[in-house]
Amino acid sequence: MPNIVVAGAQWGDEGKGKIVDLLASRVQVVARYNGGHNAGHTVIIGGERYVLHLIPAGILHPGILCVMGNGMVIDPWALEKEMQELAARGIEFGDLVISDRAHLILPHHRALEAIAEERRGSRRLGTTSRGIGPAYEDKAGRRGLRMVDLLTPETLPGKLEEARRHYEDICRAAERTPDVDWERLVTDLVGFGERLGPRICDVSLVLQRAVAQGHSILFEGAQATLLDVDFGTYPYVTSSSAAVGGVASGLGIPPTRIDAALGIVKAYTTRVGSGPLPTEIGGSLEEELRRRGSEYGASTGRPRRCGWFDAVIARYSVRMNGFDSLALIKLDVLDALAEIPVCIGYRHRGELVSELPADVAVVEACEPVYERLPGWSAPTSGARSMDALPEAARRYIDRLAELVGCEIGIVSTGPDRHDTIFRSNSRFAAWFD
Ligand code: GDP
Ligand code: IMO
Ligand code: MG
Repeated sequence: MPNIVVAGAQWGDEGKGKIVDLLASRVQVVARYNGGHNAGHTVIIGGERYVLHLIPAGILHPGILCVMGNGMVIDPWALEKEMQELAARGIEFGDLVISDRAHLILPHHRALEAIAEERRGSRRLGTTSRGIGPAYEDKAGRRGLRMVDLLTPETLPGKLEEARRHYEDICRAAERTPDVDWERLVTDLVGFGERLGPRICDVSLVLQRAVAQGHSILFEGAQATLLDVDFGTYPYVTSSSAAVGGVASGLGIPPTRIDAALGIVKAYTTRVGSGPLPTEIGGSLEEELRRRGSEYGASTGRPRRCGWFDAVIARYSVRMNGFDSLALIKLDVLDALAEIPVCIGYRHRGELVSELPADVAVVEACEPVYERLPGWSAPTSGARSMDALPEAARRYIDRLAELVGCEIGIVSTGPDRHDTIFRSNSRFAAWFD
């Protein structure tokens, strides 16, 4: 298989974990390029449920090299907890490496995030409270600590000074008492350095060697295009480059080594946290969809907001990422509906809008324009071929592909690995075998 990126095309939780796991058996390396433990990637294998937050979903396949990129932010407590929980279930970590250039999430980041969210009041972002934003702020502000710093413990107190000063300044302005125990922090970090040290390396070099040996790489994105710090519904976004553009900068792999991109879309739309969701359903119908789709955050357990399929944002994602093919997930969740609205454009002050506006206030003022497609009122759950789908479901899939301008090469009809249709006419068909 060539080197393929798997990235979310909506606001996250599209089913990236399932697809990465499915394709992982066809590659030698799975490399995650962005985000931290704000992600929750679910993989279900034979009824066993695994939720991966930091570790690439390839870890569930023995013998695959798993890479955590420099574009990630890593909370070492969360990483060790995840490793311990997986180890208790028999997963081995022989082949897990971590970028020496990845930044650390430290306790003061969570404290800073709590202050920032509180100060925003009704404009709060509804973050995952994992310290993601402040960790990327420290990175861009050139006061962050990186994995490589764990390897020189004697330098840690000095390197923490800038971050500490910044944190204490903000506490003072917010009239909070700083409560980070910096001495204890250094002791903890020394321990992480000792335990994680052998895994910390220049992953750009590791990946380039893998490419030279003819190995294939699957690039795993966390979050999604509409949460990307540049291309998402700013400021209601995460702080990393979640779109395909983040692969090169988040792993140190040249863009010329990325062969293709697979976008993951739900058959409808969900979003966790604040910010515009133009097709949000509301009322009992939304609750029903949430129940059918078990739409509760894999990381935080928060109920996900549910909306109809939004072709404006999906088309934007296809264009922005250059997706060659899409995987359409959770078709089965729509089984009971007699009619399914699909948003084909927005109306703003009487004008039709077909491209996603940059100004979030304009997006919030947009009314979705719907095309109503017939439902199939029949079970598709677990279907494994297009022929097994009702005619109306096939038409739904074809219409979405037409609206977003990209083929739908994979259709997912249930959470398990096997509840998947690989389409024989996909551009990727040869790689699915
Ligand atoms: P990710 O963050 O993109 O990896 O997605 P999540 O794991 O957060 O959320 C996707 C959820 O949908 C998980 O609970 C999956 O087990 C589940 N899932 C994946 N594919 C399907 C599907 O085709 N049908 C149904 N009903 N559930 C699915
Ligand atoms: P996966 O990889 C869905 C959302 C949060 C919040 C915003 C900013 O599982 O698809 P952050 O903590 O990142 O600063 O929060 O982004 N968010 C996600 N929503 N899936 C995710 O990851 C998300 N990661 C962050 O809910 O609205
Ligand atoms: Mg998720």
